[in-house]
Amino acid sequence: MKAAVHHRFGTPDVLTVADLPTPVPRGDEVLVRVRAAVVGVVDSLARRGSPAYARTAFGLLRPRNPVLGNDFAGRVEAVGPDVTRFAVGDDVFGTTAPRFGAHAEYVLLSEQAALASKPSTVDYAGAAALADATALVFLRDKAKLHSGQTVLVNGASGAVGVAAVQLAKHYGATVTGVCSGPNAELVRKLGAQSVVDHTTEDFTRTGRTWDVIFDVAAASSFRRCRRALSPTGTYLTTAPSPAIFVQMAWTRRFGARRAIVAFTGLRSAGDKRHDLGYLKELAEAATLVPVIEARYPLPRIADAHRRVDAGHKQGNVVVTMD
Ligand SMILES: NC(=O)c1ccc[n+]([C@@H]2O[C@H](COP(=O)([O-])OP(=O)(O)OC[C@H]3O[C@@H](n4cnc5c(N)ncnc54)[C@H](OP(=O)(O)O)[C@@H]3O)[C@@H](O)[C@H]2O)c1
Repeated sequence: MKAAVHHRFGTPDVLTVADLPTPVPRGDEVLVRVRAAVVGVVDSLARRGSPAYARTAFGLLRPRNPVLGNDFAGRVEAVGPDVTRFAVGDDVFGTTAPRFGAHAEYVLLSEQAALASKPSTVDYAGAAALADATALVFLRDKAKLHSGQTVLVNGASGAVGVAAVQLAKHYGATVTGVCSGPNAELVRKLGAQSVVDHTTEDFTRTGRTWDVIFDVAAASSFRRCRRALSPTGTYLTTAPSPAIFVQMAWTRRFGARRAIVAFTGLRSAGDKRHDLGYLKELAEAATLVPVIEARYPLPRIADAHRRVDAGHKQGNVVVTMD
């Protein structure tokens, strides 16, 4: 099978397309012919081996996972003898996170892994773009978002942000999106009632407050956002830092405002599978629509990484294996 590989950390130039053995499913394993996979910020970080603390996951001296890619969609090509949930020919979507491997023509997973029937209303690229449950986990499970609340999504036009805006709207919240000017229209279209352009305005200094501030871009901090949180508001961030761990522990016990960081890729396969089923339902109800800025064929994987590295993408960048 063809796969995008890298054997050293660096720029997108370290990526090449190589021939690797096609895996053979055994026991409860499912072999999926990947048709599309997201190229995201995490792939870019893993390719660079950055930040340094993440080398424990990405590999200390050289890449631990030569084939990157987490969120994918495709068709079941073969199954092991013990598989009961899937059959050859099923269209599926899922995620290999945190172990990567989806930027390849085939991916092998246990049927107990984060794998589910693909939403029937979107194509493979769209399904791959919906497979990441980060926004869902932060808003539903961490913030316990409910109708009537106000939410600010800092980083509303990127891959996690476009899902966050739509989910927050679905849960009945009033949504403010933060992005740069050119992406404002997209964010409004997805359901944000107001948009703040981070290049001209600091949302923490507008005098407004929100029940939930979801700092997707991790461009702010709990300290700065405190003044923009309602008295019992919650600050959520996607990025670890010494400060946020202390703030999370402190605010869990003292004070009314909360600070929370979470790592959605590390959840159990069962939780991820359950969420994929829910995301499929939302997609089929057109509550959640995929946003894809660009699709690149596998031989152009380095260009896909360059686009992600450049920042400011609208939603997702996807690599296709047609
Ligand atoms: N903890 C977890 O479990 C977890 C899971 C998934 C992802 N993540 C992390 O979440 C982050 C976002 O991922 P993503 O895939 O959504 O990234 P992305 O697609 O690159 O989107 C980044 C977003 O941030 C905005 N942005 C850039 N600079 C900003 C600034 N100074 N202030 C406010 N917004 C700014 C961008 O808007 P404009 O382009 O309009 O400027 C865009 O909306 C990444 O760091 C990723 O590693 C964490």
